[in-house]
Amino acid sequence: MANEAIPNLTAFDEAALEKAFTALEAQARSDAASLEKEPFRLKWLGRKQGLLNEVSDQWLKAAPPEAKKSVGQRFKTLKELAEGLLEQASGAGPTDASLKAEAIDITLPGTQRLTGAEHPITRTMNEIVAVFAALGYSVGVGPEVETDFYNFECMNFPPGHPARDTQDTLVVANQERKPLRDRLLLRTHTSPVQMRTMEQQPPPVRIVIPGKVHRNDAADATHSPIFHQVEGLCVDTNITFSDLKGTLDHAMKALFGSSVKTRFFPSFFPFTEPSADVQISCIFCGGKGCRKCKDSGWIELLGCGMVDPAVFAFAAEKQPAYDAKKISGFAFGMGVERIAMMKYGISEIGSLFAGDMRFLGQFA
Ligand code: PHE
Repeated sequence: MANEAIPNLTAFDEAALEKAFTALEAQARSDAASLEKEPFRLKWLGRKQGLLNEVSDQWLKAAPPEAKKSVGQRFKTLKELAEGLLEQASGAGPTDASLKAEAIDITLPGTQRLTGAEHPITRTMNEIVAVFAALGYSVGVGPEVETDFYNFECMNFPPGHPARDTQDTLVVANQERKPLRDRLLLRTHTSPVQMRTMEQQPPPVRIVIPGKVHRNDAADATHSPIFHQVEGLCVDTNITFSDLKGTLDHAMKALFGSSVKTRFFPSFFPFTEPSADVQISCIFCGGKGCRKCKDSGWIELLGCGMVDPAVFAFAAEKQPAYDAKKISGFAFGMGVERIAMMKYGISEIGSLFAGDMRFLGQFA
C-alpha cells in the first residue's frame, strides 16, 4: 500500500516536536478505528514503507544532536501506541457477541454423508475386466449408437438376417434415405468394437470391451431391453481353439471360484467359425442338479468362437496385416447382468435398474 508521507520537520524545539507527534498520534488513533487490522499494520508498522519507519528514517536522522533524545523518546511512545492500536484495529478480533452468534454446539451429531459405492453392474464389469487385464488384455470402448455396417455388415450378418429386423433391433428414426450400411441403430452387442479396434491397430490384439447394449426385448425377470456385455478379442499368429478354451476356463474359475468347471457346446454366430456356447458347472449345487440349473448341473454363460475369416477380410481393408492366412484369433462375449445375478444371488434383473437404495445399499 502506498503511504502518504509524513510531513517534513524543520524545527526541532519541544513545541514543534509536540505538535508533530501529537498529530501523528491522532492520525494513528483514527486509522485504527477505520482500517482493518492488516492494512493498519502495513501503514504504520510495515517494515519498508510503514510510517514509523519513515519517522525514524527522516525525523530521527534529521534531528540535531541536542533534539535526538526527545525525538527518540517520542518515537518510542508513538511506536508503542501504534502496536497497542494494532490489537484493537477493526477486525482485530471477535467480540463476545459475535462469538456467541457464530458458536456451534460441537456435541451435536454431525451431518452424515453417505459414502458412494460402485453399482453391482459396474462392479461386476470391473471384476471381469480385471481378470483379463491380468492376462495382458487392454480395455477398449465404442459408441452405443452404431451404424448398420459395424453392428451387422462387417460382422458377417447376411442382409436378411432376423437380427437386422426392427423386431429385434432398436433403430434411429429417419435413416431411410441413407445407404443401409450408414443407418444408425442402438448396438445390439459389443462385437462392433472388435472391428473398430482392428481398424485402428494391426495384430497382435488382446482387448476386452465393456459396454451397454440394447435390444427390442420385452422385460421379464431375466431380460431387460438395456443390458451390458463384456466382449473379448485376441488376434495373433497361431491362436487356436485351445487358447480360447484355456483362457475362458481360467476366467470362469477366477470369477466364480477354482472348483468351477467349463464345457463348450457347438453354437452359431455369423462372426465366429467354429462357434461355441460356454457352460459352467452350476455354482449353486456344484453340478448335482437343482432348480437354478434346471436339474442339468450346468449353466450357460457366454458365446465365443474363432474369428471368422470373413471378419478378417473386412479388417484387412484398413489394416492389411489381418490376413487370415497368417493370423488367427478368438472372440467371446458375456452378459454382465447374468453374471452379476449369479454372483450376488439376484433373482430379478429389474432390481439392478430400479435405483432403489434399499437394494443398492447392500452392495456398498
Ligand atoms: N455378440 C454375441 C452376442 O451378443 C456374443 C459373442 C461375442 C459371440 C463374440 C461370439 C463371439 O450374443
